[in-house]
Amino acid sequence: MSATDQDTGRRIGDTVLKVDNISLSFGGVRALTDISFTVREHEILSIIGPNGAGKSSMLNVINGFYHPQEGTITYKGQARSRMKPHAAARQGIARTFQNIALFKGMSALDNIMTGRNTLMKSNFISQALYWGLGQKEELDHRAFVERIVDFLEIESIRKTPVGRLPYGLQKRVELGRALAAQPELLLLDEPMAGMNVEEKEDMCRFILDVNDEFGTTIVLIEHDMGVVMDISDRVVVLDYGRKLAEDTPDAVRANQEVIDAYLGVSHDDAA
Ligand SMILES: Nc1ncnc2c1ncn2[C@@H]1O[C@H](COP(=O)(O)OP(=O)(O)OP(=O)(O)O)[C@@H](O)[C@H]1O
Ligand SMILES: [Mg+2]
Repeated sequence: MSATDQDTGRRIGDTVLKVDNISLSFGGVRALTDISFTVREHEILSIIGPNGAGKSSMLNVINGFYHPQEGTITYKGQARSRMKPHAAARQGIARTFQNIALFKGMSALDNIMTGRNTLMKSNFISQALYWGLGQKEELDHRAFVERIVDFLEIESIRKTPVGRLPYGLQKRVELGRALAAQPELLLLDEPMAGMNVEEKEDMCRFILDVNDEFGTTIVLIEHDMGVVMDISDRVVVLDYGRKLAEDTPDAVRANQEVIDAYLGVSHDDAA
């Protein structure tokens, strides 16, 4: 079953993110060539394609990690050129990484708490001066983080250092950290890579619930085609830094060019 408007009662809105003619090179390597696509409010859009196709680079452009040589990103009607990641975060964009980027010695709870950083109003000085205010804010943030812990069903490991958690749970904590920022646009880079079937099912459910309950717009990179076809509203296909297709899952699955470049060949989903 695909997650269409009819199935879930969700309403896909207007364009929230516009990617226009983005080209990105690293020295002589062209990672992205003239990429354009749109993301609509509340939708789940997947980016697929072979290893090295430019999928992660695309997410890095969207959240300001990489600065493209050409093209524009327009988020909520605001075109931007050289944005920094923290500015993207303040605009409501959060992400997870292909390789887990957590503080391994810190507890699951404290890792998720770091996701609140961009939302914290009082800095160190004001916390020192107006201790009460800082303390109240801290309590509010802690309460919110506890709600995320409940939502992701990780109560039993909340105090465990993440380095000691199995891989699937680390991925879940990383999702929690991204959610802690209360993003409007959530970018997920292979959130299910390396997971077993059960862990993948859990992660799928959380992604669908986030989308459904909070209305969060989601851009997802994933190699598991079963998952992609199941949960995506639309799919963008990249190959060698170029866009091959932008369409519904069914249309993408039937697209001969996409089959030849990606779907028809075996690929490495743990990369
Ligand atoms: N920071 C960087 N410096 C140099 N080259 C880079 C950098 N980031 C990406 N590239 C290159 O850009 C191209 C696209 O890489 P990218 O990581 O975006 O692909 P991908 O589609 O995410 O692949 P995978 O499925 O393996 O994760 C590759 O040739 C890669 O080597
Ligand atoms: Mg990648």
